[in-house]
Amino acid sequence: MRESQKAIGVFDSGVGGLTVVRALMERLPNENIVYFGDTARVPYGTKSRNTIEQFSEQIVRFLLEQNIKSLVIACNTIAAVAEHRVRRLTGAMPVFDVINAGADAAVAATSTGKIGVIATTTTVNSNAYARAIEARRADCHVFSQACPLLVPLIEEGWLDNEVTRLTVREYLSSFTSKHIDTLVLGCTHYPLIKPLLSDEICGVTLVDSAITTAEAVANKLKNLDLLNEIQDIPDYRFFVSDIPLRFRAIGESFLNRSLDQLEIVSLG
Ligand code: DGL
Repeated sequence: MRESQKAIGVFDSGVGGLTVVRALMERLPNENIVYFGDTARVPYGTKSRNTIEQFSEQIVRFLLEQNIKSLVIACNTIAAVAEHRVRRLTGAMPVFDVINAGADAAVAATSTGKIGVIATTTTVNSNAYARAIEARRADCHVFSQACPLLVPLIEEGWLDNEVTRLTVREYLSSFTSKHIDTLVLGCTHYPLIKPLLSDEICGVTLVDSAITTAEAVANKLKNLDLLNEIQDIPDYRFFVSDIPLRFRAIGESFLNRSLDQLEIVSLG
């Protein structure tokens, strides 16, 4: 098999990374994709760095056995605390992550340099978005807000619901006096409530890191001559560490299509 025909490996702490898979399917419809979601151990957003590094290493070793040509860290929390550990395992393989792609997009979008980031508690505490943005443009000011209640509300399917709206309003109130012009959705789940977020924070550009990551993958694979040119029906394989209640329904809403070829593997 030619290198370009191999799959793109994508992984996340659970179901959320399917927003990145969906963006990849739309942007790169010829590509084969293999996904791993650690549904038995999610959420990662409240776990320690050590644990996340250890789990990520197990996932990467599994994906490297699946004949992949590149790897996408779809989980912001993993990208925030375990990116270096992942890159150490992958050698020369192109590796992409939502934080670097989101930081590039945020810097391109802002005119005032005042950027807000919403994410899980672990991602915010790691300061990874602020570091990535300020490394690209030193005069940017990054204001971060942890939004731990949003992941459960979104998984409940409460995408346009009063409770979610009030929760979002409360979290976004921390940006009121900051005059941000750009808001990074620094968690896999948040693209699903983009309409609600834009209602609540008018006039601010939202950076959807799923879309920006898919764009980064497309550009880099093209430059490396690694895009799959074969126009066949692509192969999508989904691996999870557990199939919890309602997993299929939640997963299909994230992916916007049916989840076929779903298998359980246990790691560690
Ligand atoms: N995938 C995680 C992220 O993007 C959210 C879910 C979790 O806490 O594991 O940060």
